[in-house]
Amino acid sequence: MRWYLSFLCIAAFFIEYGFTRLTPDFIHPCPIDNKPCLMQSTIDAIPYFTMGIPDLGVPSIDPFYIDRLTIPLSGLKIAFFNGKVTGFRKAVIDNVESNFAKRKFGLEFHSNVTLKGGYEATGRVLTFPINGEGEAKIKITNLKMKVMMNLDTKSDDKGVNHLYVKNYKYNLGYGDKVHYNLTNLIKDSPELSRTLLQFMNDNWKLVSEEFGKPVVDYATELALRTIEKFFLAVPYEELIEGPIPSFK
Ligand SMILES: *[C@@H]1O[C@H](CO)[C@@H](O)[C@H](O)[C@H]1NC(C)=O
Ligand SMILES: *[C@@H]1O[C@H](CO)[C@@H](O)[C@H](O)[C@H]1NC(C)=O
Repeated sequence: MRWYLSFLCIAAFFIEYGFTRLTPDFIHPCPIDNKPCLMQSTIDAIPYFTMGIPDLGVPSIDPFYIDRLTIPLSGLKIAFFNGKVTGFRKAVIDNVESNFAKRKFGLEFHSNVTLKGGYEATGRVLTFPINGEGEAKIKITNLKMKVMMNLDTKSDDKGVNHLYVKNYKYNLGYGDKVHYNLTNLIKDSPELSRTLLQFMNDNWKLVSEEFGKPVVDYATELALRTIEKFFLAVPYEELIEGPIPSFK
């Protein structure tokens, strides 16, 4: 009887700890380079993954918070603070590419994204002198993004295998419309502030190309580091079905 009980205890231990997947249930593993599976798996994971996985130390991407982001541009210094970016949980996945032998992965999506927060700006936008401080709300309709990643695998000090992001690059399209609402762009001049804001919205494409990149660089870096935190928290065997091809 006693050996039987201890057997049960050991079995229970292994069920509890030994074979427990670390990866949350919303992540569905896929065979290598199986595009339909990867596509569906990504679609399934996005609404949950973007909320963050506190148990694994993976922070939220929607919302994600910008404590302070200073963008030094020629002639203009702009800082966002207490910023909140929302929208990525409703991202539509357009394509997933995978070439595991080359450790290359691509993700293409579009999403409506809103940034809200405080801002300060001094300098010039085109010919307008800016000296403002107020609230910013920037709404991007159908932001399009394609991220290409070079991944690789490594084992941690416990011998557990992980994927990690070696490097990445991205292409960006500002989509159908960027709507700017920044209050008090020119201090003590509501009239000029309104005129400038109108100008920014009439020329949203130009303005976005001028100012968008540093913000998107920052957001992308943060999102990729978040994905990497997830990779480093779970063994890659839980993400990939079957053996990993060697590097070519
Ligand atoms: C973004 O918003 C527009 C207009 O509100 C809507 O037509 C479009 O389907 C939305 N896109 C996504 C990816 O949710
Ligand atoms: C801009 O935001 C302010 C509040 O921050 C609001 O009162 C105003 O109506 C908004 N303007 C537009 C054009 O959305």
